[in-house]
Amino acid sequence: MRLVSLSGLTALTLAMKAAASTYDYIVVGGGPAGIITAERLSEANKKVLLLERGSGPTVATGSNHTLTWDDSLTPIDVPGLSSAVGGLDLWNEYICDDTPGYSACVLGGGVTVNYMVFVHPAAHDFNDKWPRGWKWKDVAPAAKRLYKRNSGTTLPSEDGQRYDQGLYSTLSGFFSKLGWKSVDMIKQPNEKHEVYSYPSWNIKDSLRAGPVRTYLPLAEERDNFTLRLQTKVIRLVRSGSKVTGVEVENSAGVREIIKLAKSGRVVLSAGALSTPRVLFNSGIGPKAQIQTAKKTGVTLPPKKDWIELPVGKNLKDHPIFSIVVNTGETWGPLDTASVLNGTSTTNINLYEDKASGVLTQGRHRMIYFSSNVASDGITRYYQGSCAASAQGVVTITQYMTHGLTSTGVLGLSEDGSTVFEQSPYLQTAGDVEAATSFIQGMVDNITDASTGFKLQTYTNTSAILGSLTSGIHYTGTAKMGTDDGRKGGSSVVDTNAKVYGMDNLFISDASIHPDLPTGNSQTIVMVVAEMAAAKILAYKS
Ligand SMILES: Cc1cc2nc3c(=O)[nH]c(=O)nc-3n(C[C@H](O)[C@H](O)[C@H](O)COP(=O)(O)OP(=O)(O)OC[C@H]3O[C@@H](n4cnc5c(N)ncnc54)[C@H](O)[C@@H]3O)c2cc1C
Ligand SMILES: *[C@@H]1O[C@H](CO)[C@@H](O)[C@H](O)[C@H]1NC(C)=O
Ligand SMILES: *[C@@H]1O[C@H](CO)[C@@H](O)[C@H](O)[C@H]1NC(C)=O
Ligand SMILES: *[C@@H]1O[C@H](CO)[C@@H](O)[C@H](O)[C@H]1NC(C)=O
Ligand SMILES: *[C@@H]1O[C@H](CO)[C@@H](O)[C@H](O)[C@H]1NC(C)=O
Ligand SMILES: *[C@@H]1O[C@H](CO)[C@@H](O)[C@H](O)[C@H]1NC(C)=O
Repeated sequence: MRLVSLSGLTALTLAMKAAASTYDYIVVGGGPAGIITAERLSEANKKVLLLERGSGPTVATGSNHTLTWDDSLTPIDVPGLSSAVGGLDLWNEYICDDTPGYSACVLGGGVTVNYMVFVHPAAHDFNDKWPRGWKWKDVAPAAKRLYKRNSGTTLPSEDGQRYDQGLYSTLSGFFSKLGWKSVDMIKQPNEKHEVYSYPSWNIKDSLRAGPVRTYLPLAEERDNFTLRLQTKVIRLVRSGSKVTGVEVENSAGVREIIKLAKSGRVVLSAGALSTPRVLFNSGIGPKAQIQTAKKTGVTLPPKKDWIELPVGKNLKDHPIFSIVVNTGETWGPLDTASVLNGTSTTNINLYEDKASGVLTQGRHRMIYFSSNVASDGITRYYQGSCAASAQGVVTITQYMTHGLTSTGVLGLSEDGSTVFEQSPYLQTAGDVEAATSFIQGMVDNITDASTGFKLQTYTNTSAILGSLTSGIHYTGTAKMGTDDGRKGGSSVVDTNAKVYGMDNLFISDASIHPDLPTGNSQTIVMVVAEMAAAKILAYKS
């Protein structure tokens, strides 16, 4: 918006100044992966430009959406308000308008708007399908670097108390009767069968954590780091197998080319639903998608420089099934409206004066994990995130996770939006069989006469299976692997996170994950970004 109010001459001077500076690294996208990658590159004395198409969500990064009762905080900062974010005006401002499903176009990406569930990856998340060099023993140091800055917590209230524990107490009674085990999901990340835990949340100092708070300020202290908001990357400018710059568009629709230094590099971190678009727009991907990109009016490289790679294929996500259970108990959801309008004074005072109370906690009260083995011999995992949705009613967000064999396809439409060309959910007989049998077991257990529980809304197994929605944990659209996609393989990036066929183009975001994790995706995305940054720095062209 800023450029609009300037005189044409000043705008031109600014554009020329920007064009004249060249960078060692341009990182495209200020989501969790992009911020972590950019921060680590700048820590290594590189001159780094981080380009984010959205605005900043915190007061420090320029947001005006402050609370009525605290002008240093926005609703996204307060953990207890995370369940209300979806109903606020800022949601529409922050959610991307040109991707399918949900993704967030705001600094911090999905981590800015999500429910903050922070699942430390299990060793098998890497060991089963990631390539050599990316097994748990290899990435564990990267995870350690992340957790040092952004560890997640199951006990965010500064007074050391847990608040609003009715739901936990009801459900822990239910699961312990079934013989499931209570674990600490942070300390025991590998325990993923018939276990339940207090939720681990992305919270630090009683605020929503994540790289906007735990990494970005470190980079901003360095002269060589520049962040530009409201700057959308349209395409890469290429000279054969080399990127020489990026074409960007500001919020007023003004376009500009930003140049790389001679030996500079670009890292794409626009997320699993947007990084593919930047690739298609740059002549990288299936021919049909590049041809669609051409119809959107983008300037493509000459046809001889197109690189055919399976970008958009191997899209994976966790399906969600909703299990709604009326337990007959008296606990209920937090009244976030009265927190927003400032009348919930007890909760607000406890939060403001003591960094304590229910507002320091996220929305869920329990997370459980389990697994089963289908007749194809494959072990598939399940996560249940449990939150109150009405008095005595728990809505279980029942994810199906690691071990899934289904994949979908992400493509481009002629209006420039990315679209699902094939759904990633329940495409294989094994996935359908496993889901049916797991849900059936839950239904049997919940409706057993001894519990006193009743299913609501979806009252039988087929209705629950029919409640399928997106898990918003997309991965795999520019998958990492040793089978070069130009030669019929499935991979878009090699184990240095470098795009096959390009000299200086890397990807660091959820797109490169070749497999789905056992839990929500943000933590593993951050771990992988730490690892990718190290690989990129170590790679000598
Ligand atoms: C509504 C929602 C709820 C979720 N709930 C949870 C949860 O509770 N727990 C959990 O672990 N995970 C959750 N997730 C998933 C998690 O947030 C994502 O896995 C994670 O954010 C992915 O990180 P990323 O860096 O790959 O991409 P993103 O987070 O998508 O970040 C990409 C960034 O790039 C920017 N960008 C995109 N295109 C361009 C461009 N052309 N030019 C410049 N910038 C661009 C975007 O604005 C964005 O900031 C949720 C996601 C959403 C959307
Ligand atoms: C800034 O970047 C340049 C170019 O990479 C580098 O030579 C210089 O050491 C960096 N300076 C600092 C203070 O990091
Ligand atoms: C926030 O408010 C200030 C002062 O009114 C204004 O200058 C600025 O443009 C606003 N920022 C955004 C992101 O709206
Ligand atoms: C604040 O919100 C609560 C809950 O919706 C409502 O009952 C109350 O009337 C509101 N008070 C004011 C002053 O807006
Ligand atoms: C729970 O469901 C499993 C799987 O169907 C079943 O083996 C077990 O007996 C059930 N337990 C109860 C208490 O119903
Ligand atoms: C399951 O529930 C749905 C919706 O309530 C209902 O239409 C359907 O007949 C039920 N199926 C079985 C097998 O009971």
